[in-house]
Amino acid sequence: NKKAFIFDLDGVIVDTAKYHYLAWQKIAGALGIEFTPEHNEELKGVSRVRSLDIILNLGKINATQEDKDRWLVQKNEDYLGYLVHMDENEILPGVLPVLQYLKDQGQAIALGSASKNARPILEKVNIISYFDAIVDGNDVTNAKPDPEVFVQAARLLSIDAEKAIVFEDSVAGIQAANIANMTSIGIGEESILHEAQYLFPDFTHIETDFLDMLIKR
Ligand code: BG6
Ligand code: MG
Repeated sequence: NKKAFIFDLDGVIVDTAKYHYLAWQKIAGALGIEFTPEHNEELKGVSRVRSLDIILNLGKINATQEDKDRWLVQKNEDYLGYLVHMDENEILPGVLPVLQYLKDQGQAIALGSASKNARPILEKVNIISYFDAIVDGNDVTNAKPDPEVFVQAARLLSIDAEKAIVFEDSVAGIQAANIANMTSIGIGEESILHEAQYLFPDFTHIETDFLDMLIKR
């Protein structure tokens, strides 16, 4: 009864979603574009390049590739600045016990993230050893809601999609999991993640009984 448990990174394992938002806000602000937390929901799970396009669209701005490249570099430098002091304390509540429980049960664990910064972040917070496979923004060509990142993760674990379970905080990620025929578990608010098959406000609400049910079925 081995299942593949696939975790998104930003906003699921670590609270980096707030740093992505701050870094994008800086770019948007400089361009005079209003960029609210509601707008930001659309960016969650979405690749860096696509995120910029969404922001420029909001401001109806036509930019050259040169400008875009510069803003992309700037955004990432700002973002990395927020990560300098990152350590284990930024792992979201309840995540470690769930990872440990799944590991103890002999389950396969993977990361499925759109971020190109995923590996250094996992190293910073010292949990890279939990993952049997890592698929991130450097490995895929199609961003969520395309299921490529999760499909690749399940494949690396040699586990069928129907036996994969995805933890996600983004609308795009939940859609990707559903498209891939995987079990989708939303971490966040019902008003945003209503397409998720299961929903929890955070990992402290995920009990071992629930994990056992996922493993056994
Ligand atoms: C996702 C985040 O995990 O990764 C997005 O939810 C982010 O907000 C995307 O844009 C790409 O991340 P990075 O680190 O490669 O810019
Ligand atoms: Mg996320």
